[in-house]
Amino acid sequence: MASINRKKLYIVMVGLPARGKSTIANKLKENLAKNHIRTRIFNNGDLRRRLSPEDTSYPEFYDPRNRKGADLREKIAMINIHRAMNYLDRTGQVAILDATNVSAKRREKTAEILNTHPVLFIECINQDAEILKASIEQKVTLPEFRHLERESAIQSFKQRIRYYESIYSPVDKQRNAVRLDSLYNRILHEEISDDIPHYDLIRDLLVADTVKNLFLIRHGETYFNLENRIGGNSGLTENGKAQAKALARYFKNKKIPVIFTSRKKRTIQTAFPIMQEQEDCSIIPLKEFNEIDSGVCEAMSYREIRDVMPHVYAARKRNKYAYIYPDGEGYVSMKERVDRGIKKALYLSRNPQNIMIVGHRAVNRMILSHFLYRREEDVPYIYIPQDKFYHIVATQNKKLFQLRPYNRG
Ligand code: F6P
Repeated sequence: MASINRKKLYIVMVGLPARGKSTIANKLKENLAKNHIRTRIFNNGDLRRRLSPEDTSYPEFYDPRNRKGADLREKIAMINIHRAMNYLDRTGQVAILDATNVSAKRREKTAEILNTHPVLFIECINQDAEILKASIEQKVTLPEFRHLERESAIQSFKQRIRYYESIYSPVDKQRNAVRLDSLYNRILHEEISDDIPHYDLIRDLLVADTVKNLFLIRHGETYFNLENRIGGNSGLTENGKAQAKALARYFKNKKIPVIFTSRKKRTIQTAFPIMQEQEDCSIIPLKEFNEIDSGVCEAMSYREIRDVMPHVYAARKRNKYAYIYPDGEGYVSMKERVDRGIKKALYLSRNPQNIMIVGHRAVNRMILSHFLYRREEDVPYIYIPQDKFYHIVATQNKKLFQLRPYNRG
């Protein structure tokens, strides 16, 4: 290596399309900037769309045997590499090269050229078929697929991924590399040979669940709520609908690109008017956010449970967190799926300013306790009203939990 200035850093993203590379690159950039570290992203996809007047979204453009496509992609990669070098030569401190970089050949060449500062490779992996599917469905809403029907756009994007897979080789033999499960924010492999500037900060950012603004809402009042009945799939009462409209008014001037709900009618009905008041917003129902399954007690009221199944009532009272309803769930057994729902929501929403979840009483308790430590025995008693919502901020520089009313009269 030529003489290395250790104060500056190149980060090279690696991974197949739709593996969360850009989300991570953006998260790094924003947080490094908050720490006064001048950072810029050099994204090959953006450059391709800007530079090439013709359509490059069709899958064959990515076929490694297509010389014209391969040459153009190589050219774009080189332009960004040189722009990144220029940036660090001047005032920049961290340059992030955001591209697939899936072939060992491309990575070797990149490391060879970028020899004036250390290079850190961050490889993003996500093996979760369901998330990948949802992620692809979101990708095809991008302007570059606008000329295609949704199903053909999905097929086209999948074919693009297959072409990348055909030349993919996992990162190894690099001096500095992190392999990251980008859904679970888990480091799977870490090899650091050089003194990487800001590595403590970068590593921490890679593993942390961060949300800039999470609005955690409980669905509006339902017919079951009126009778204190649990579970089921009842709809909102008139009051519940009015609550949903009040929420919609309250959030009208905040940009909410996506609302995650459960698959139950009551959360979707609550989210619907909120979505309607937004300019560009979609609802994504996740089964992971369904309310606790109370098994044999579904649709019963607490009083009925006490009278008809006193053993259930007493056992749950003794240890509400650990108690599992016969044929159903308990807080303890919901934890894994709710955590998975949170990961899914964060992954699919791609680091936006605001994210919203409309959930249920028990589910929202679990979501809150994911970000705010509570002893397990206290989790099933966290206050989750229907006339207020939680505003949660969990970033490296700020933690906030605020219970706020939304109905300003
Ligand atoms: O009553 C509404 C509800 O969401 C039920 O569907 C659910 O079983 C219950 O709240 C969860 O709260 P708890 O664990 O306190 O019974």
